[in-house]
Amino acid sequence: MSDFRAARVESLYVHVPFCAHKCEYCAFYSEPSSGELINRYVTALVRELELVAGGLKPHTIFFGGGTPSLLNLGQWERVLRAIERLNLLGADEFTVECNPATVSADKAKLLRDFGVNRISMGVQSLDEALLERLGRVHSREMVFKSFDILRRAGFDNVNLDLMFAIPGQTLEVWRSTLDEAIALGSEHLSSYEVIYEEDTPLYAQLNAGEFDVDEELACAMYDELVQRAAVAGFRQYEIANFARDAAPSLQLSTIPSRACRHNVNYWRGGSFHGLGPSATGYVRGVRTKNWSNTQLYCEQIEKGRRAIESSEELVPLARAGETAAFGLRMVAGWPFEAFQSATGYDLRQEWASDMKELVQRGWAQHSDTHFRLNGTGLRFADAAAEMFLR
Ligand SMILES: C[S@@+](CC[C@H](N)C(=O)[O-])C[C@H]1O[C@@H](n2cnc3c(N)ncnc32)[C@H](O)[C@@H]1O
Ligand code: SF4
Repeated sequence: MSDFRAARVESLYVHVPFCAHKCEYCAFYSEPSSGELINRYVTALVRELELVAGGLKPHTIFFGGGTPSLLNLGQWERVLRAIERLNLLGADEFTVECNPATVSADKAKLLRDFGVNRISMGVQSLDEALLERLGRVHSREMVFKSFDILRRAGFDNVNLDLMFAIPGQTLEVWRSTLDEAIALGSEHLSSYEVIYEEDTPLYAQLNAGEFDVDEELACAMYDELVQRAAVAGFRQYEIANFARDAAPSLQLSTIPSRACRHNVNYWRGGSFHGLGPSATGYVRGVRTKNWSNTQLYCEQIEKGRRAIESSEELVPLARAGETAAFGLRMVAGWPFEAFQSATGYDLRQEWASDMKELVQRGWAQHSDTHFRLNGTGLRFADAAAEMFLR
């Protein structure tokens, strides 16, 4: 087992808790905000970076949200200069999430100049009526325009986020969104079925009987996604994630070259620092969660301490079970050796009967070196993963 206690953390997540307007379905911690609070947040974030920088050598950085692209040029410059000063530049993969309404040529250039080399853009749909239905602040035209700005600024690694099974979305509308999004030629595609998160307007509308959930239609949409992405040359490497591959391989156990390395680290149970309000971190076996309140977050940091609301250290077997469950979301599943070096446990011992059961159900494959869910198993990945929790 690798000595995870001594090593420097190689992955950094930063949460930016602001959005121009809250979307109907979204439960991520974010809110519309004034320039003053955003400035205060930037100052606090720089301090939080200073607090963790000594134990950090990031190979991947991910600014998510919220809407990181909502920060203006001056605010981004302060953040990026701090990252530079703290010797945290040089990550192999540095991703910033963008909303198509807040991409500009100046901002794209600044990000690129400081080593941001991957953009993840929230598109959700290319149907005007559905964009409106979801409470998105951008039009379909802005998606095309922003994609073009990003390409011109030199971003050659772009992800597009799409959602399916949106209330009112027909199979036909989904097909044309997929085709148009794929035609943009991005390197990566993420596509999740709508999740009805408590405390969102969409959840309230569902409970009020304003529409029904059609599971069969959602399955048909997922099938379209998997098929159309494959025909367009993407390789599926996780339930909802598809990437291009520089050296296409038919081997399921490999991960495509344009996969999101930051997320692969999560799914493989790696450590990461999580900064910003509501961010979670996982360092030296301890999971932490920052306060989901920007004012409180700033107050804590201004007093010179981290803004951690809770922390939890799982016993090693429980931690290994969670790691097993996460890794099964990937098409490559778990190589037994990698699992052992990440957790200290052998999947073939502790989880032998669970793996046998999944193979018997026709959900999984077991080889000499790997255990992985097949296409059917990936659809029921949550149920399969639960069997590995201890
Ligand atoms: C933080 S957002 C992406 C960046 C930016 N905030 C935006 O929306 O344009 C992350 C992604 O999570 C997905 N997402 C958020 N809430 C979801 C939900 N309730 N169901 C399914 N997908 C969701 C969306 O695809 C969204 O693009
Ligand atoms: S989906 Fe993105 S833009 Fe919409 S509220 Fe959530 S974080 Fe903000």
